[in-house]
Amino acid sequence: MNNIRIAIDGPSGAGKSTLARSLAAKLGILYVDTGAIYRTIGYQIYTQGLDPKDAAAVDGELPRIQVEAVHGDDGLQHMILNGRDVTQEIRLPEISLYASAVSAHPSVRAYLLDMQRQLARTQSVIMDGRDIGTVVLPDAEVKIFLTASPEVRARRRMLELEQRGTPEPYDQVLAEIQKRDWDDSHRAISPLRQAEDAVRLDTTDLDFQESEEALMRIIRERTGL
Ligand code: DC
Repeated sequence: MNNIRIAIDGPSGAGKSTLARSLAAKLGILYVDTGAIYRTIGYQIYTQGLDPKDAAAVDGELPRIQVEAVHGDDGLQHMILNGRDVTQEIRLPEISLYASAVSAHPSVRAYLLDMQRQLARTQSVIMDGRDIGTVVLPDAEVKIFLTASPEVRARRRMLELEQRGTPEPYDQVLAEIQKRDWDDSHRAISPLRQAEDAVRLDTTDLDFQESEEALMRIIRERTGL
């Protein structure tokens, strides 16, 4: 069987990572979280005290950054930044906006493009992000655009933050989601948008299991997996 590539794109908080991780485990294929890769760059810029919007500052930092995504037998994607495991740190809420800001620089996207393609070259993958179906894997066998209303995504994100022990008020979470939606879909390079050949799934009124079943149906229809 040839490698199967499943691209899942969509705005933050649509449930991409949780769903993709679970589907990958069920299908026995690799899950690649590309947001984590951008977060790792964002984390470096944050720890260096640099302005993530300053293209020259970010460009100057790139040669000093070595990023690796290591997929362990535990199914987790560990992010290694200059030899240090930063898998936990990149999930801090303040890193989300840093990741979004650095991801708008063409140099950062070019720097990470080959790395993402390489991960899908030798094995079947489910890869989630913002531009997987449009730019990273334009020939993916399955493309899904996963979305939900901003209010529902904010509520889900709130729960996630609570479970992680870093709660934030609803209004703040909603405002952050709306800002990231705007920034991610209005940047000049590789903006968040649905690929023409992607299937759109709106999970506003679906729970986790219903969303997973719907995605599995789409994947099976297109791949015979
Ligand atoms: O999926 P996430 O929230 O962990 O992603 C963090 C940020 O990284 C997101 O706001 C935009 C950026 N990103 C991107 O530009 N392209 C991707 N393929 C994945 C993430």
